[in-house]
Amino acid sequence: MVIYMNQKILRDNFSGRAGKSQIMKIAVVGAGFVGEASGRGLSKHKNKVVFIDVDEAKVKAHKKSGFSAFTPDQYTKIDTDITMFCVPTPTNGGGIKLDYLKHAVTDFAKRLAKHDGYHVAVVRSTVPPGTTRDLVLPLIEKYSKKKAGKDFGLVMQPEYLREATANQDFERPWFILIGELDKKSGAVLEKLYKPFDAPIEHCSLEEAEIQKYIHNVYNAVKIAFFNEMRLAIKKKGWDQDKIFLATAESSEGIWNPIYGLRDHGPFDGSCLPKDTVALLEWGTKNGLDFGILKSVIKQNFYHEKVMGQNKKVRVNYLSKLGV
Ligand SMILES: NC(=O)c1ccc[n+]([C@@H]2O[C@H](COP(=O)([O-])OP(=O)(O)OC[C@H]3O[C@@H](n4cnc5c(N)ncnc54)[C@H](O)[C@@H]3O)[C@@H](O)[C@H]2O)c1
Repeated sequence: MVIYMNQKILRDNFSGRAGKSQIMKIAVVGAGFVGEASGRGLSKHKNKVVFIDVDEAKVKAHKKSGFSAFTPDQYTKIDTDITMFCVPTPTNGGGIKLDYLKHAVTDFAKRLAKHDGYHVAVVRSTVPPGTTRDLVLPLIEKYSKKKAGKDFGLVMQPEYLREATANQDFERPWFILIGELDKKSGAVLEKLYKPFDAPIEHCSLEEAEIQKYIHNVYNAVKIAFFNEMRLAIKKKGWDQDKIFLATAESSEGIWNPIYGLRDHGPFDGSCLPKDTVALLEWGTKNGLDFGILKSVIKQNFYHEKVMGQNKKVRVNYLSKLGV
């Protein structure tokens, strides 16, 4: 029941665009978790896929399983409609490293210089907001001497797959976000993903880039929060599964997907402000360091300063669904 309601409320919010699907040729640059799952998944819908990777072992393996695959120096011309960049963007101390992306994009732009016809470049790597417009676009224009919007399109499409189930997740996406430079670029991706029968939403390049970080950081905060509570529960010898599963059933913040998303200001009311403080006090008395809880209380005071008081809007979510 809850799953049905969540799907309905989310799908009702997504616009998508009409249009037919189209079989296409796609070059996947970087054949790791994201690239391999993308290439394999797209090929299952009759698209023609070519893998490009600096790792010769990966190129060999893809060839062995029947795909076209090359190292960048072997692949000198463009014979596809789309190029997807799925290269690493690590943060090994001292900030994010965008060198892999810069190299891959520069190689691509040199190939594009010799290509006639419109082509769409898609950033699938997770990158900070502004990277696609302010780094990728100028690099492509510089080395291809082509014009964004006219000669080539640009899209940032975040990937949400989980490594353990990468291929299945790509084949059965629960949601697709297309960050687009312009409508023409986005329409090409919309056609490509039509057969996947998933909700598709369009936004700007920067909105797609920040959305992927919000997506990941939200998951990280949820895990860290429950670990903070787990340590307290374990210290007391209580049953963590029972308490957390009961929370999953009781807390609207878990079962209502749009809880907390609307712009209603800081949390307020007769329970949340007093109970957050009460649990923090109890933790302190019991020698528990509730670091996340402390930040939540502090941040909410800050939000009251900059956003004003809670607007006390109450949305009757269940009655909207007619249940
Ligand atoms: N792994 C995940 O679950 C996941 C999920 C969503 C998004 N992402 C993001 O997707 C991006 C790729 O992640 P991944 O896990 O697939 O990485 P990965 O390390 O598994 O694969 C990256 C591939 O890119 C290749 N490569 C590096 N430089 C290249 C170049 N110049 N030309 C061609 N190939 C090159 C590498 O040899 C490697 O095979 C990252 O930005 C990551 O944050 C990862």
